[in-house]
Amino acid sequence: MQLIGKAGKAAAIAAIAALALTACGRAETPTTGGTAGGEAFPKDSSIGVALPQKTSENWVLAEKLFNDGLTSAGFKADVQFANGGVSEQQNQISAMITKGAKVIIVGAIDGAQLGTQLKQAKDAGATVIAYDRLLLNTENVDYYVAYDNFKVGELQGQALLDGLKAKKPSGPYNIELFAGSPDDANAAVFFNGAMSVLKPKIDDGTLKVLSGQTSFEQAVTQGWETENAQRRADTLLTGSYSNATLDGVLSPNDALARAVLTSVKAAGQPTPVITGQDSEVESVKSIMAGEQYSTINKDTRKLVEHAITMVKDLQAGKTPEINDDKSYDNKVKIVPAYLLEPVIVTAANVKTAYTDDPILGPITK
Ligand code: BGC
Repeated sequence: MQLIGKAGKAAAIAAIAALALTACGRAETPTTGGTAGGEAFPKDSSIGVALPQKTSENWVLAEKLFNDGLTSAGFKADVQFANGGVSEQQNQISAMITKGAKVIIVGAIDGAQLGTQLKQAKDAGATVIAYDRLLLNTENVDYYVAYDNFKVGELQGQALLDGLKAKKPSGPYNIELFAGSPDDANAAVFFNGAMSVLKPKIDDGTLKVLSGQTSFEQAVTQGWETENAQRRADTLLTGSYSNATLDGVLSPNDALARAVLTSVKAAGQPTPVITGQDSEVESVKSIMAGEQYSTINKDTRKLVEHAITMVKDLQAGKTPEINDDKSYDNKVKIVPAYLLEPVIVTAANVKTAYTDDPILGPITK
């Protein structure tokens, strides 16, 4: 863990929280430490898991892993996707509370829109764990379990630079920037992590963004939807690249990287150096084929396993382990976090990166 990364991350979270801040947001003196736990609960209790939309493979995998892991630990697993959007997720969380869930694990569609339900959950005595995405503007979140999101962005930014240099030893290089969905608290953190690496190179002229679109607000992809990224890429290519080559693209995840590549191909451009995230099967194959440049390995099995470990600790009346108590300021409190380390994957290490992964291991042998 790097201190600079952490400070930047806290600032990034604070910045988006400030953007999303509504009248109900309160900036209290931050509190840290285990706020839940203490009282054990029956081993066969209901545990709610509220997942967002299926915008990437990691969420689909998480559904199965939560169902299997919680059930085999003896709990009643109540795992729900909210493909219909925020109000569906709000209703699902309320239903979990009504069914008596002792822990509610939330992968939020919009981390700032669940305040009422999270308060209901806490009032009913449940512990709330933010999973992968932070819950914002609420004191009613006890823990956060995620991969280090700022680090993900830093790795993406560095990979883009490395890939460009490997293709052509010196710049300037033309690049475009894509970010995730602005309602997902992670999106700005990924972008800010990447920009901590790229911005100095934009400032010194090594990197050129011909569209001029360098802010997070300009780079976002609503709903993490591939159609939106593809449409924006089409527009950028028509507007700024009819007489220029697009050398590189910062893409926040694999699904959007593949969408951008589709657009680039249709425009008759050579394949740019493009980043990704999630180690999706199609993207890992694309890296092996020399198309997509990089992805990030954030093993979902480890993340779900850690969330379930927290549930088991809470069930036994123990305070779950955390390893970070200063990075994730949700604007009301600093949420005690357990962060896992993301790993960059390119053609250079793709054959060794997934040796213990049951899906990707055999593909990359
Ligand atoms: C996750 C990414 C994922 C994205 C879109 C983010 O919150 O951290 O792994 O690619 O959501 O589903």
